[in-house]
Amino acid sequence: MYVVRPAAAAAAAFAALTGLTLTALAGTASSATSAVPAAPTAPAGTFRALPLPGGPLDGLSGPVVYAHRGASAYAPENTLDAIDLAMRLGFDWVENDVQRTKDGELVVIHDDTLNRTTDVEQVFPGRSPWKVKDFTAAEIARLDAGSWFGEEFTGARVPTLREYMNRVQRNQQRLLLEIKKPELYPGIEEQTLKVLDETGWLDERHVARRLVVQSFSADCVRSVHRLRPDLVTAFLGTPPVADLPRYAEFTDRINPWHTTISADWVAAVHGLLGAHGKALEVDTWIVDDAATARKVRDMGVDGIITNAPDVVQDAVDGF
Ligand code: G3P
Ligand code: CA
Repeated sequence: MYVVRPAAAAAAAFAALTGLTLTALAGTASSATSAVPAAPTAPAGTFRALPLPGGPLDGLSGPVVYAHRGASAYAPENTLDAIDLAMRLGFDWVENDVQRTKDGELVVIHDDTLNRTTDVEQVFPGRSPWKVKDFTAAEIARLDAGSWFGEEFTGARVPTLREYMNRVQRNQQRLLLEIKKPELYPGIEEQTLKVLDETGWLDERHVARRLVVQSFSADCVRSVHRLRPDLVTAFLGTPPVADLPRYAEFTDRINPWHTTISADWVAAVHGLLGAHGKALEVDTWIVDDAATARKVRDMGVDGIITNAPDVVQDAVDGF
């Protein structure tokens, strides 16, 4: 069904015109001497003064900013360090990637191989091509998932999904959970939901405000919606406008790569009601610079998924 919806772009423009700057923190995001960008400085425990969802300023402050794989410009992606840093920078929404080990444990890692983000080639030299699905959870727990990024992160681990959910909960954060390459892991949808349930993430409060499940696989998103119709879901991709109504039957959001979208496409998505009877939303990825952040904000996107959340938040808060 199509819907008349106030343009998010207009809200963003209003925020810009009125100088509605709620950011309490200005980050510095570069280092001239290191391959690893310096983490922005912020007093421990500092949170940005952001409007509460559903509160009086919600919708007038520009897109929601998601820390992609955690604050992954400044800490090793998908580690607990990366979500802790996102928290310290004041970001409650974090994104991750879920895959499965040989013995059936869900773990948080982006690639379906271990060698880019761990020291697996040193620890298990004879096990090329180092697929996640060919290693047990105990083997993966031995790997260093931090030193590739910077020696100060030596000792970081590939978290299990249980460990990760407990940390997001402790940090009072919210999660955009991606089921990665579900075709490699039959039944991963049910298994992911089981872990979410057992860690307390499928109660009413979490489902209503703190969790979104997404995938590049439409079949996967459809399965999650069938198994838990109350959950908010997102499809990763940029379907043609003519196909959008089919997606709206089982998902609430269409999350595209930023280079593939236009204001007209965003408006077409917003013109449809999603699986829960609300206007379909758009969270775009991966935007790490201020100019692109403002560009997609002005297209009317609802969220921006970024490795450098401080850079993007400052850009979309300002003129
Ligand atoms: O959340 C969107 C984004 O994560 C999709 O791409 O490859 O980083 O998982 P990728
Ligand atoms: Ca992802």
